[in-house]
Amino acid sequence: MTTAKSGRVPDELERLVGAHRSRPLLALAPMEGISDAIVRDLLSGLGGMDFCVTEFIRVTDRPVPKKVLLRECPELKFGGRTTAGVPVMLQLLGSDPENVGQSAARAVELGAVGIDLNFGCPARRVNGHHGGAALLTQLDRLRTIVETTRAYCPAGVPVSAKIRLGWENPEDVLDIARAAEDGGASWLTIHGRTKVQMYKPRAQWSWIRQAAARVKIPVIANGDIFTPDDLSACQKETQLHLFMIGRGAFRTPNAFRWMSGLDARPWNVHQSLDLIEIFVARVQADEATSDGGRVALGRLKGWIRALCDASPHISPLFHTVKRTVHLQAALECLKAFRSMPESFLNLGQPTAP
Ligand SMILES: Cc1cc2nc3c(=O)[nH]c(=O)nc-3n(C[C@H](O)[C@H](O)[C@H](O)COP(=O)(O)O)c2cc1C
Repeated sequence: MTTAKSGRVPDELERLVGAHRSRPLLALAPMEGISDAIVRDLLSGLGGMDFCVTEFIRVTDRPVPKKVLLRECPELKFGGRTTAGVPVMLQLLGSDPENVGQSAARAVELGAVGIDLNFGCPARRVNGHHGGAALLTQLDRLRTIVETTRAYCPAGVPVSAKIRLGWENPEDVLDIARAAEDGGASWLTIHGRTKVQMYKPRAQWSWIRQAAARVKIPVIANGDIFTPDDLSACQKETQLHLFMIGRGAFRTPNAFRWMSGLDARPWNVHQSLDLIEIFVARVQADEATSDGGRVALGRLKGWIRALCDASPHISPLFHTVKRTVHLQAALECLKAFRSMPESFLNLGQPTAP
């Protein structure tokens, strides 16, 4: 197998994402409540993204019903790809190997191009049922979940695992990575933090490098990649060629174009707000969320909040929008903000976080 370290996209990933590319492979991270099908469609349509992953789909005491799989991953109706043709890995989170495996089999029957297994979610309600990051402390079970899922999926359908460095001790990642590999994972995505660290201290990329050296399967590095400089630094520190980006895609909506070299710079605020307005219109139009704009308003606030992380000068917009209770009022704030003179708005490029 060609390795991620050689700069080539490894075979199994290459089958998923298509022809070999000289630039690093870039995937959109799964983000519950944020990276739904509309976002995946919009962001993948911009270019520069090689694959994406659904938000986690929870497997409880029975296999996930088909209608839930189709609701969470509507791309299944279109060959498991977004409109732009970007493949979508379907992520499952559960602690019962049989139920996870059978859910995976159903997803593949419906058209999933690959299954990703969540071993990183830090939510208490999930960990309380031995799911997500709780499995980082139960390596036999983690291995069995991967193995069983693999057995339920036809050959050629990748089964990947997304892990953190451990529950509390980052060095545990070495054994965790091995357990996932032993179970037959096609590749690993490693978020460079422990469960206890949640999302705060800087991701520890050096542990990702050490874990990658312990396994033969490809490793995707994840955590705190927001700019092309971060990408280069992560590449240097991990010696890897495969990366996953989460929050950065919301702070800078053209993050994938920027990091893949399609764009020379991050979008300015107007460009980002243009995309967010399209997003809001699509959320509203989505029958599943026809609720008088409540969901769209929440998502609008969330995305503007994320933009502020890269462009602090627009925080006055967030503070006004945050107080609105109706979508229409929030859209009016947006309009008013956008009609201000550019000199007043200081509409330069976002700053690196
Ligand atoms: C709001 C939120 C929701 C997330 N949901 C998921 C999820 O459903 N599945 C998963 O594997 N990781 C999830 N993550 C973790 C991200 O995929 C990613 O590993 C993490 O944000 C670090 O990458 P980043 O620094 O590029 O954001 C979530 C993270 C955030 C902030």
